[in-house]
Amino acid sequence: MKLDIENIAKFVSKEKIYARGDEAVSYVKALYEKTGKGSDFLGWVQLPATISEREISTIEEVASFFMKNTEIVVVIGIGGSYLGAKAALEALSDNFWAMKENDRPKVIFAGQNISEDYLYELLDLLETRKYGIVVISKSGTTTEPAIAFRLLKNHLEKKAGKEKAKDLIVAITDEKRGALRTLATQEGYRTFVIPDDVGGRFSVLTPVGLLPIAIAGFNIRHLIQGAVDMQGATSHETPFEKNIAAIYAAARYELYRAGKTVEILAGYHPKLLYITEWWKQLYGESEGKENKGIFPAGITLTADLHSMGQYMQEGLRNIFETVISVERTAHKLRIPNDPANLDTLNFLSDKRIDEVNQMAELGTMLAHVDGGVPNIRIEIPAINEYNLGMLFYFFEIACGISGYMLGVNPFDQPGVEAYKKNMFALLNKPGYEEEGKRLRLK
Ligand code: PA5
Repeated sequence: MKLDIENIAKFVSKEKIYARGDEAVSYVKALYEKTGKGSDFLGWVQLPATISEREISTIEEVASFFMKNTEIVVVIGIGGSYLGAKAALEALSDNFWAMKENDRPKVIFAGQNISEDYLYELLDLLETRKYGIVVISKSGTTTEPAIAFRLLKNHLEKKAGKEKAKDLIVAITDEKRGALRTLATQEGYRTFVIPDDVGGRFSVLTPVGLLPIAIAGFNIRHLIQGAVDMQGATSHETPFEKNIAAIYAAARYELYRAGKTVEILAGYHPKLLYITEWWKQLYGESEGKENKGIFPAGITLTADLHSMGQYMQEGLRNIFETVISVERTAHKLRIPNDPANLDTLNFLSDKRIDEVNQMAELGTMLAHVDGGVPNIRIEIPAINEYNLGMLFYFFEIACGISGYMLGVNPFDQPGVEAYKKNMFALLNKPGYEEEGKRLRLK
């Protein structure tokens, strides 16, 4: 994996970025030595290198149980208990996996919304399928997944019987605390632990991400190895000039100081869409506090050049772009010649589709830089488990450094409580009566 910051030089000098080197390295040390803000939530920093063989093989065993016994596995979770697995599965799967048969269970998601139609249509689908459930919630009390789990648990128990349902449900939750832990113990579900010191958005390399990824048939050992190698390359022992995560953090911080307050993560493969969604949560929830933080946005290209392209080129100049560039595709396909040439595209005859995509990427980048949009480029050799492991860890460690640079605690999320309080008050949850009255009077 490579990081290229050449195309921000017109906006922020390399000297300015490198002048942040010592500071950035001190933040990496603070993450390793747990001396910075939020130090109770740093279990993810050294996690890749410490995942035990026992944990990996238990995850693989449970995954093969689901492979043998189910057609569909519904993974229930939201936010950090959802986006990492969703991102990995979208990136690694065939684009049309839902329509194609293979010998793996189809992994689908619930609990990430409160849409009645979504849940109704899901139950309708499950009516005739052999399915299992992986329910993920650290707190065990998050409304969206709790509602989805109630429905699916009832459905599965009616369909398969309570005893059989018990075997088809796995819970991933806190080791000791919380409603889901209590329920799992009562019902006798198999469980995996979300470590106390790993927050949701940093949990993709725990069973939260690893189990769904393994169930879908992907190689979690390669994923972990990618993360381990990135951990080695970005550790507290790596000098700034060689630490691509520290350079990325310093570059985006200097851009922010120069008025570039929106970072747009761009990918040229639709499979990367949910990597962007995962990244948006990681950076948005970690940095957006105390009235500070870069707003993380995303686009999928070239599709969005036909919708967001105008803004990118000529809108408010407070944006910068970070592109995830993929060196090689998994498949090869050439553009056919057309004797009629009505679309005048015969100059592309026999060219690889990816060559056109790569030129679209280069041309767009040059146009955006000319139009006042700095460009950071992260290049991965291919979309596979190993490189995804690298990418996940790269963004996590860079996020920790970046949050410290900004001066915030990157590991809390006090702001997400506000909507919950209002929602509970409006729904008459006991204990919220006064707040409900106040909101209704507004
Ligand atoms: O990053 C976070 O902490 C959040 O996005 C949580 O993961 C999300 O709210 C789900 O929480 P829980 O796993 O407790 O259900």
